Amino acid sequence: MTIEQIRAGFDNFSYIIYCPKRKKTAIVDPGYDTSKLLEFISSNTLELEYIILTHYHSDHTSGIQKIKNFISSSRIVASEVDGLKLGVKVDIKVTDRNRLELGDVNLDFFLTPGHTPGSICIIVGNEALLTGDTLFIGDCGRTDLEGGNIAQMFITLQEKIKPLPDHLIVYPGHDYGDKPFDTLGNQKQINKTLLAKNLDDFSKIP
Ligand SMILES: [Fe+2]
Repeated sequence: MTIEQIRAGFDNFSYIIYCPKRKKTAIVDPGYDTSKLLEFISSNTLELEYIILTHYHSDHTSGIQKIKNFISSSRIVASEVDGLKLGVKVDIKVTDRNRLELGDVNLDFFLTPGHTPGSICIIVGNEALLTGDTLFIGDCGRTDLEGGNIAQMFITLQEKIKPLPDHLIVYPGHDYGDKPFDTLGNQKQINKTLLAKNLDDFSKIP
């Protein structure tokens, strides 16, 4: 399993996940600049299977059509709830604990509401955790935008993210931290949003 973290413009990250043996590939969150994503796929002769959206916000999704125009056989993957706001047809609607195969690599999906009602996180090959705008390095996603919910975010972090294994590498949707990625184990030790004991403490984090 291989992951490429790609700067997509401003502080956004897009990702390419691929199975080196079978060349099957997924793009996660094509935001502003899709040229690097398409270039990487072409130059490595990869086969794009999925375009996965962690949530519907335009800085993570505005490149969908450009990629679809280029590789029309690729299938769009999103949660049912956020998929309704994408403005494009979702080919595969994922919900909690769904799995897709990408060549020899398993993609395990978790529903993680809070930043948006249908945000998802993805465990890739039991090695990486792509968190979109749910978890950043040192912080979590905003809950004050349309559809955000602070109580849901607290439950997501406590009940969905914290129980996951420490060895997973967290790959976030934005470069907001002191490093572009980190182990989940380390984030459990230092990320203030994972350390909050209750909703009251969580809601007081600046
Ligand atoms: Fe977002």
